[in-house]
Parts: sequence; structure tokens; C-alpha cells
Amino acid sequence: MNATILLLPGDGIGPEVVAGAAGVLRAVETRFGHAFELPEAIIGAAALRQGLPPLPDVTLAAARSADAILLGAVGDPAFDRGPSSGRPEAALLGIRKALGLYANLRPARVWPSLETAGPLKPEVLAGTDMLVVRELTGGLYYGEPRGIEPDGSSAHNTMRYSRQEIDRIARHAFDAARLRRRRVTSVDKANVLETSRLWRTVVTEVGAEYPEVTLDHMLVDSCAMRIALAPSSFDVIVTENMFGDILSDEAGAVVGSLGLLPSASLGAGTGLFEPVHGSAPDIAGKDLANPIGAIASAAMLLRHALKLETEARAVEAAIERVLVSGLKTADLAGGGPAVGTKHMAASIAAAVGTS
Ligand code: IPM
Ligand code: MG
Repeated sequence: MNATILLLPGDGIGPEVVAGAAGVLRAVETRFGHAFELPEAIIGAAALRQGLPPLPDVTLAAARSADAILLGAVGDPAFDRGPSSGRPEAALLGIRKALGLYANLRPARVWPSLETAGPLKPEVLAGTDMLVVRELTGGLYYGEPRGIEPDGSSAHNTMRYSRQEIDRIARHAFDAARLRRRRVTSVDKANVLETSRLWRTVVTEVGAEYPEVTLDHMLVDSCAMRIALAPSSFDVIVTENMFGDILSDEAGAVVGSLGLLPSASLGAGTGLFEPVHGSAPDIAGKDLANPIGAIASAAMLLRHALKLETEARAVEAAIERVLVSGLKTADLAGGGPAVGTKHMAASIAAAVGTS
């Protein structure tokens, strides 16, 4: 297969983890006889530093015409002041919206040999394998009106959801659950918010079309607690944008490290694949970052954007084998011996080539 995969390394640890994942894609190309073009474009603070907007037009045009996008991270404390539109994060929100990527899939599972890497007892974590389906182009992140009074006396954001936005993300979650353990937990705050009451109504209606999938509803505070107390009780979680942002970080911490978590953002346009972890400026450029979130995102890219399921599984199996062999990056090692970003990524690329 010939495919163009646009690399958007971005900020902080983004360039290091994307380089690692690109190496793994090259190994897939060689082993399975594909031809991948891997052009790069700038986004986030990397663009702001060149006097460009955080999402330059050329970057968006390249994104639209690619077969898939692999993004590292955006965010830089140097640009933490000023209006929302001038921050690196605006690029991520902009590209998600421009490409219509409303469905964000964030799988979190316990990897073999990492049962004790996180804060939970291994017997509590055992069997954890959940998929957070986060609505990605609506809710508080995009609702209008929004703003801050010029005198700084107050600020406001708007949470708004249409029936259609809830319906389409619910279908995504039920479709995913059909291929898994056939259980959907819809998470909301229906005891307080009108948007959540509409959410619950529409998800229930959609659920009626999926009789083979069990649906339950959970309040977001309760869900946060259950992820910590009984993570293995979840299969698919479907929730609105901000709740999904928060719960997916928690899911990452529970399975050992946020550095492990991949994501896929799907919808109308080119699919975008990125690790959940963010730019982590404190460890950037030090070869300390865990590249597994980015590499597992590349596996999701192969699966969802290029429909290369065998190749996706080969990458996931390679990650597994390298972890089982005992290699750990600093975030997983708990103070024990650790390898750097490059070493971890190269080991996984080598394992793809030899499996
Ligand atoms: C994420 C990130 C982003 C979000 C930020 C960087 C805008 O936290 O992808 O989870 O909030 O969506
Ligand atoms: Mg987040």
C-alpha cells in the first residue's frame, strides 16, 4: 500500500516521541512491503515561534490531503498568556474542528509486566481494558458565547450539545462495544446539567437499537471514583468532551503511566492519531519521554486510517514483547533501571521487524 502519513511533531516531547513512532512505521513498511510517505509540518508553539498562527494554513492543507496524521503534542509555558486563539492548544482544537474529528478513542489497558507500575494493587488492576470514547468537537471546549470581561471581573463558557452530536458519538461507542465486551457506560452529570439530561435521553434511544449491548449510566464523579476502585469493571465509556479529557488522564495513571496511552480522533476528515500525554516541557529534549503512547497511536493509525489490522497487531505485539523483556522508560521504572526514549523506540521497531 502507498500512504501519506503527515507527521506533526509539535512541542515539548512531541518531536522525540514522533521520531520514535516514525521509526516503527518504517519497520512496518519494510516488513510488510508498504510505501509510506512521512512529510512533516509545524503546529503549536513551533509555529508561533516562527511568527505563524498556531495552526498555519499550509499545515491544515497538508492535513486535509494526507491519508492520516500522527501528532506528538502541543503546548508550551512560554505562550501561556494572552487570548485562547494565540495559544499552542488552539491548534489542536482548530485541527479537530476543521477536520470534523468528533470521535476520540482512548483505550487504556494493563500491559503485561506493568501490573505494578501504577498506583493500584495488581489484583485491583487485573483485567483492566477500557475504551474511553470522548466527544471531541462540542461541549465547553467550543460553546459560544465565551469570554472574559475586559476588566477581568468575570468570565464565561457555554456547554451546549445538540441531539445530533450526541447521537453520532453514541453510535460510535455502541459500534465499538459490539467488537469488545458489549458493555457501554455513559457518563454524565444529569443530576445537575441540562446538557447531561439530553445526553442521557439520546444515548438511551440509540442504545435501544443495540439490544446486544448492555448500557448503564453513571455520574461523572462516581465514575472517577470507580476508575480508581474497580477499573476492570469498565468496557466502553462514552462521555462528553471535558469529562472525557479528565477521565482519560485518570485511566492512564491507573494503568501505569499516562505515557502509555494512545488515541485516535475520527470523523469526517483525515484521522488524527496522538498520544494522550501532552508536551511535558519539564522533560523535553532529555531522552526521558515514554514513546509507547505515540507508537501505540501509530498502531491505531494503521488499524483505523489505513485498515491494516495485521500490521497494527504486529506493532502492539512488539510493544508487548519489549515490555515483557523488561525494558522500561523512567515513568514506568519506579526509580529502577530505565532506558531512554530512543532506546525504547528502536527496540520496538526492531521487534516489529523480527516478530
Ligand atoms: C488532550 C489534551 C488537550 C485537550 C489540550 C492540550 C487542549 O489535554 O488531548 O487530552 O484538552 O483536549
Ligand atoms: Mg487531556
